[in-house]
Amino acid sequence: MASGYFITGTDTGVGKTTTTIALIDYFKRQGKRVVGMKPVASGCVWRDGYLQNEDALLILQHANVALPYEIINPYAYELPVSPHLAGAENPVRLEVIQACFKRLADDSDWVLVEGAGGWYSPITPAFDNADLAVMLGLPVILVVPIRLGCINQGRLAMSAINRSEVVCAGWIAVCIEPNMPFEQENIAFLENSLESPLLGIVPYQSGILVESSGNFFP
Ligand SMILES: Nc1ncnc2c1ncn2[C@@H]1O[C@H](COP(=O)(O)OP(=O)(O)OP(=O)(O)O)[C@@H](O)[C@H]1O
Ligand SMILES: [Mg+2]
Repeated sequence: MASGYFITGTDTGVGKTTTTIALIDYFKRQGKRVVGMKPVASGCVWRDGYLQNEDALLILQHANVALPYEIINPYAYELPVSPHLAGAENPVRLEVIQACFKRLADDSDWVLVEGAGGWYSPITPAFDNADLAVMLGLPVILVVPIRLGCINQGRLAMSAINRSEVVCAGWIAVCIEPNMPFEQENIAFLENSLESPLLGIVPYQSGILVESSGNFFP
C-alpha cells in the first residue's frame, strides 16, 4: 500500500499542479512508482468524447504507472466554477474518490492528490477540501506562492489546516513571479512563522514544464 500526500494551496491558481508534478518527478528520481490524482476538477474540456482536465492530464503524463484517466480524475466538470456549483447535477461522492484512491495506492509507492481550490473551498454544499483530506487520511502539504500578500495567506491557510483532523507535513514555496523583490526574505519570514517545516522551494520556471527539478524533504 502506497504512502501519499494531499496537496492544498492558499488559493486557486497558486502552483498546486506545478508542485504536484515536481513531487512526482522527485519521487521518480528516487526510483519509486508514483501516481497523482486530481479527484475533482472543473473547467474541463471535451477530448475524444470525454471531459478531461489539464491538471489531470499533466499528472498522468508525469506518473510512471499507467492508469486510466477516470481513476486519476473521477469528477471532471465542464463549467469553470466551483465544483459545488459545476457538479450540481452529478455531485461528488466521497466513497467514489476513496475507491479510486485505493486503486492508485494498490499499484504504486506514492500517490500525490491535488485538491480543488484551497482548504475551505467547497466540493459539494455539504463538504469541502478539508473534509476530503480528512477522509483520505493523508498528511497535507500547503503550497504558498511567493508574492505580495503571501505571508498573510500562508499563515491563514496553515492555521486552518492545523484546526482540522489532519497531519500537516509542511509547506512548499512556489516562486511564481519572475522578479519578486525580497523573495528569500518572504520565504524566511514564513519559515519562522509557520508551525510546519518548509519542505522545498519550486523555482520560477517560464514555459512548459517538461521535467521539473527541485529538492524536497530536507
Ligand atoms: N514555479 C513557477 N514558475 C512560473 N510560473 C508558475 C510556477 N508555478 C506555477 N506557475 C504558473 O501559475 C499558474 C498557476 O499554477 P498551477 O496551475 O500549478 O496552480 P494550481 O494551484 O494548480 O491552480 P488550480 O487551482 O487551477 O488547480 C500557471 O499558469 C502556472 O504556469
Ligand atoms: Mg491545479
